[in-house]
Amino acid sequence: MGRLEGKVAVVTGAASGIGAATARRFAVEGATVVGWDAVGSDGLEVVDVRDEAAVAAGVARAVAAHGRVDALVNAAGVAGGGPVHAMDAAEWERVIGVNLTGTYLTNKHVIAAMLEQTPDARGQRGSIVNIASIEGLEGTEGGSAYNASKGGVVILTKNLAMDYGRRGVRANCICPGFIDTPMMGAVFDMAGMDHVRRSFVEAHALGRCGEPEEIAAAALFLVSDDASFVTGSALVVDGGYTAGHQHGIAAMMGLA
Ligand SMILES: NC(=O)c1ccc[n+]([C@@H]2O[C@H](COP(=O)([O-])OP(=O)(O)OC[C@H]3O[C@@H](n4cnc5c(N)ncnc54)[C@H](O)[C@@H]3O)[C@@H](O)[C@H]2O)c1
Repeated sequence: MGRLEGKVAVVTGAASGIGAATARRFAVEGATVVGWDAVGSDGLEVVDVRDEAAVAAGVARAVAAHGRVDALVNAAGVAGGGPVHAMDAAEWERVIGVNLTGTYLTNKHVIAAMLEQTPDARGQRGSIVNIASIEGLEGTEGGSAYNASKGGVVILTKNLAMDYGRRGVRANCICPGFIDTPMMGAVFDMAGMDHVRRSFVEAHALGRCGEPEEIAAAALFLVSDDASFVTGSALVVDGGYTAGHQHGIAAMMGLA
């Protein structure tokens, strides 16, 4: 029996990368998956997370079709930013609009539906997982709008945990390291980025970037009943990227 048997999950950004891997894994684990993306794709609904009316209608459709929504994984996101003195306000709005405002809007409408649901034996009504980033926990050169958006997602998630814990809704976020997806490819495939890519890979203690399936596995844990006492956490899944700094001493000691 799958770990999500009988559960209904909405996954945003489900056409690509982490969202697609999460939708696949949840389906394998027995969930009914309602996948959303801004771009059309087989089996997915077109829902732009910036569009409140579309988000509200999407939640209403899911509840009408399946009776409830047990889980939301919010994986829709965009890269972007730049040094602030040279960044247009439009770029700031674009990144914050999808990554932070989009998270607020999906959280708002899914949580409203969850609060109407009959709780399970433990008093649980649902579980929210927002995909933040290790870049929401620390700075990155040129990150600005992206890092600010992800830092916002981290603290928004903690506030959701405070507001809804006693109403039976758990809220957590995942802070991935660098994950091999089209988003990462689009950044590192730009001209002149080879040495930057190598440096980012090296910064992970495990010596590699992650796979989207490794983030899907963490999302599975957080929405499953195994995480029934986990709320308000920012779960770092980063191959040791934020564990510390490397300066070549391990290599001197023959550890590399
Ligand atoms: N890849 C990484 O290294 C990495 C690391 C940390 C966090 N993240 C975060 O994980 C999430 C998924 O990223 P990914 O790497 O899988 O990227 P991706 O580009 O492969 O997938 C993102 C998906 O979001 C969709 N999307 C974009 N804007 C949308 C909107 N307004 N409404 C609905 N859908 C929209 C895209 O169409 C795409 O299918 C993002 O929030 C990203 O910031 C990624």
